[in-house]
Amino acid sequence: NVDTIQKTDDIGMVINKYHKLPDGYEPSNLVRTPNACVIGKDYSCQSEPQYLVKEVADAFQKLVDAAKREDINIKAIASYRSYDYQKNLYDYYANTEGKEYADQYYARPGQSEHNSGLAVDVTLNDENFNEIEQSKDYSWLLDHMNDYGFILRYPEDKVSITGYEYESWHLRYV
Ligand code: DAL
Ligand code: ZN
Ligand code: ZN
Repeated sequence: NVDTIQKTDDIGMVINKYHKLPDGYEPSNLVRTPNACVIGKDYSCQSEPQYLVKEVADAFQKLVDAAKREDINIKAIASYRSYDYQKNLYDYYANTEGKEYADQYYARPGQSEHNSGLAVDVTLNDENFNEIEQSKDYSWLLDHMNDYGFILRYPEDKVSITGYEYESWHLRYV
């Protein structure tokens, strides 16, 4: 029961397990992600350069700048992912841990917000990205991301609705 999103230029489009992007979808207006992590320096940084849709990159820059004024360092660790990248990611966990496990943590290709260039995974003050909720500065991020158009997409108390386990690091621009 998965339908394919038609209006892919809608920055507020819902992307989830039941609304997928067209196969092989690529956003047209990608630019480099501001304050992206540096390979070899930052923990959990991938080797590829990172990209976001222009409007999202601009908003992310503003969020990063506002955080900097409070001495908080927000870095992007993952941004846009290609359809094939997401397929490999999902398939790897489906093959090693089983589909039930994979579906809790990884979107299938086309069903990931990372395929749209509208989502960004972040770390705070160079901490391990999946432990940032323990940071003293995490509450600042929660309180202020909305001012720049971002939401925490997979909150701890919404697992039954989102269909994904808690992700303290995954921000979606809306
Ligand atoms: N981890 C999130 C759900 C994704 O793969 O898009
Ligand atoms: Zn629908
Ligand atoms: Zn993410």
